[in-house]
Amino acid sequence: MINDNETRSPSIEFLVRFLFCVVLSASISTIYAASVPFSPEDNYLIDCGAPTIPNLPDGRIFRSDLQSSSYLSSKDEIKVSVPSAKNVPSQLYLTARIFVEESSYSFRMSRPGWHWIRLHFFPVNNTQFDLTRSVFSVKTDETVLLHSFNINNSTTWVMKEYLVNVTKERLTIKFLPLRNLAAFINAIEVVSAPDTLISDIGSTIVPIGDFPGLSTRSYQTLYRLNVGGPIITSQNDTLGRTWDSDMSFLRARAFAKSVSVSPGIITYSEGVSPLIAPNWVYATAVEMSDARVTHSNFNVTWNLAIDPSFGYLIRLHFCDIVSKSLNDLYFNVYINGKMAISGLDLSTITSDLAVPYYKDLVVNASMLSNELSVQVGPMTGKDSGTVNAILNGLEVLKMSNSVGSLDGEFGVDGLKAEVVNSKRNTVAAVGFAMMFGAFVGLGAMVIKWYKRPQDWEKRNSFSSWLLPLHAGNSTFMTSKNSMGSKNGYGGNYYSSTMGLGRYFSFSELQDATKNFDQNAVIGVGGFGNVYIGDLDDGTKVAVKRGNPQSEQGITEFQTEIQMLSKLRHRHLVSLIGYCDENSEMILVYEYMSNGPLRDHLYGTDLPTLSWKQRLEVCIGSARGLHYLHTGAAQGIIHRDVKTTNILLDENLVAKMSDFGLSKNAPTMEQTHVSTAVKGSFGYLDPEYFRRQQLTDKSDVYSFGVVLFEVLCARPALDPALPREQVNLAEWAMNWKRKGLLNKIVDSKLAGLINPESMKKFAEAAEKCLADYGVDRPSMGDVLWNLEYALQLQESSSQGKTDEENKDVVAPSDSESSTVSSTVPIPIPISLVEANDTPAVVQAHEHSGTTMFADHITLNGR
Ligand SMILES: *[C@@H]1O[C@H](CO)[C@@H](O)[C@H](O)[C@H]1NC(C)=O
Ligand SMILES: *[C@@H]1O[C@H](CO)[C@@H](O)[C@H](O)[C@H]1NC(C)=O
Ligand SMILES: *[C@@H]1O[C@H](CO)[C@@H](O)[C@H](O)[C@H]1NC(C)=O
Repeated sequence: MINDNETRSPSIEFLVRFLFCVVLSASISTIYAASVPFSPEDNYLIDCGAPTIPNLPDGRIFRSDLQSSSYLSSKDEIKVSVPSAKNVPSQLYLTARIFVEESSYSFRMSRPGWHWIRLHFFPVNNTQFDLTRSVFSVKTDETVLLHSFNINNSTTWVMKEYLVNVTKERLTIKFLPLRNLAAFINAIEVVSAPDTLISDIGSTIVPIGDFPGLSTRSYQTLYRLNVGGPIITSQNDTLGRTWDSDMSFLRARAFAKSVSVSPGIITYSEGVSPLIAPNWVYATAVEMSDARVTHSNFNVTWNLAIDPSFGYLIRLHFCDIVSKSLNDLYFNVYINGKMAISGLDLSTITSDLAVPYYKDLVVNASMLSNELSVQVGPMTGKDSGTVNAILNGLEVLKMSNSVGSLDGEFGVDGLKAEVVNSKRNTVAAVGFAMMFGAFVGLGAMVIKWYKRPQDWEKRNSFSSWLLPLHAGNSTFMTSKNSMGSKNGYGGNYYSSTMGLGRYFSFSELQDATKNFDQNAVIGVGGFGNVYIGDLDDGTKVAVKRGNPQSEQGITEFQTEIQMLSKLRHRHLVSLIGYCDENSEMILVYEYMSNGPLRDHLYGTDLPTLSWKQRLEVCIGSARGLHYLHTGAAQGIIHRDVKTTNILLDENLVAKMSDFGLSKNAPTMEQTHVSTAVKGSFGYLDPEYFRRQQLTDKSDVYSFGVVLFEVLCARPALDPALPREQVNLAEWAMNWKRKGLLNKIVDSKLAGLINPESMKKFAEAAEKCLADYGVDRPSMGDVLWNLEYALQLQESSSQGKTDEENKDVVAPSDSESSTVSSTVPIPIPISLVEANDTPAVVQAHEHSGTTMFADHITLNGR
């Protein structure tokens, strides 16, 4: 068994396993090829102490003891065997080697990289040693696999599975018995694993960010579960893995329902292959038992015992086999009560149903107790599709600690582990040292890093634009350009796995935009012009053509392209493709036919959005930002949240756009300058101004300004107004404090907003504008408040007839809607009064001077 629970009765386990195999082979007539073959370059399989080659049902050929003597260096010659034993899963467990002195197996590696080490133990009954009382350690040159290990049960067999990244030519596995006691081993496997199995970067949850250096760790498989399905034996997994059933870990089984589809319909797409998990895993899942029942709201929970003194790599496997259509399933994933993936949207990630996806999360002691809890639950709220949540597979790998131990706190060289919490710092410190060229004297760790220079460079150039949320450490950000930026754009650096969408030829885009016709320009930005284009297949696209002369442009181009390729979400504008022919820099986006939100608020002839529509737009954009902050591969700060960067599609679904631009400023000083120059004054977080430290709460502040802009329908900054009105955030907050906010509400909405809904909305906006980031809510909280405001609005309009409801929404009504007395819903007196003071209109008559300087002062300088 791969888990640590050695007291579990093996007899039942084996019986269950056996039964499942029988049932499956009987019931599934068409067996799809569950696995693509992977042929390991190193493949050492040893049946220790065995006089002959064992005959195994899975067809694998293990070497007998004699055939493997060249790998073993030991003074001991003790071999034991029993003709049979109850409850052991294979013949491998019937023989063993016993060591009373330190002994080792050593294997020549033909290839560096990931290797499985599987150790099989069963205390074979014999006259010389009582193996149930043996205590011993097992180590490689770099990693402690087992420390003072003991099986004190004569009927229990144990299989321990490890994954180690081999960097040397030899892999040596040492067995070290405790004094006067014996060590033993029944069988050993050392087998190459594919490089793609574990990438270098995982995601952390608290704080949200990325966790680099996964490839420098060793792992022990604690749990590998085929959620909602039967045991999958090693025969059915091309990497020889066993996937257990999740049933025994599922809490409150009544809440969970198993679902399955034929494995044949699972379609692997880029980034995931059967090497990650066989299609049998993705073809079964657990979903909410009462899914689709209105008001069902609960989590499905798995609890797994773990040792909290280690960090864990948790791999979650998902595959939408439950939805009938795309974009219907959004759900949250929690680890130990903390939001791990918010609003997971498999449709947008995989673009199709039944396409596998997995996510690696790293958790450490700060989050753990003796139990690891994994929960999936529905997103609440209007726009969140069907109420359901799924999980298809779950792997929990224990990570070696800072001294390379997977068992106990000491490393192979006797060094004691630091506190688990400081792991991140260790990795970061090594990163720094490398960036500043201090390679000397860092010892083994640097050598490990050095082995994978490409991974490092990749990550480093990523960090130069992604601005991870935990970037409070500004030195890290400042140093970002010191390495890795020499990766020229083009070539195969952007490998297909990065999902850049399709490649467009220049002529294709010339055709689409009528040779970049001036009349096709739909936007002008710092980067260049944006054109509307028609592709051959009739798709309308937005084509952003950069100015190749601009040095800044090139980095922004790379920035945006890398950024967008990583991000897919219903509320983020998606990239369709790009063109870099003839040093052109062109990005092709989905076309957002309704343009920027701002145009729907003021300054154009477009019909007014109803309050409900405005709430939905705010909710959509909040969801997009929330995804950036918490759901993306790394926490990302948008940094330029404003109403012109919120675009609306033909159904008025809001999507955030223009992230990735202007993120590449080499120093913090310039970052601040360049942001100001770009004219996003009025949205700027005053704390960011003061402390020059960017956090996700800066986006929250800007979003607060957006909310007031939506409510009041005026620009965030209007230099033409009297001084105290120039800055919307200040002005609105003044009125809010006086409790008279309704005096400045968009006159076109007067009388149409439910007062409770507006109160909730204004509260959210006010909290976003708190002076200090710590006092501001997270985007998740903002989202919740907005959804609540929408509910209040909707429930208030339910009492009315259809005819009246139409009045509320109909845009054509907007011109006349200032005559609020014609609207037959309960109108709060204060809202009626608002019409008597059309502050906005009057204000336009004033003219302002030197308003930008004023603004800076206002913002807390
Ligand atoms: C495993 O493989 C065997 C033989 O190929 C097949 O009969 C059985 O149905 C498979 N079971 C599972 C769960 O994959
Ligand atoms: C182990 O073997 C001894 C004799 O060698 C026998 O007496 C004993 O019952 C055996 N124990 C088990 C658990 O099989
Ligand atoms: C689901 O679990 C999370 C974390 O434990 C919790 O915050 C949330 O309230 C739960 N949701 C429901 C509906 O119980």
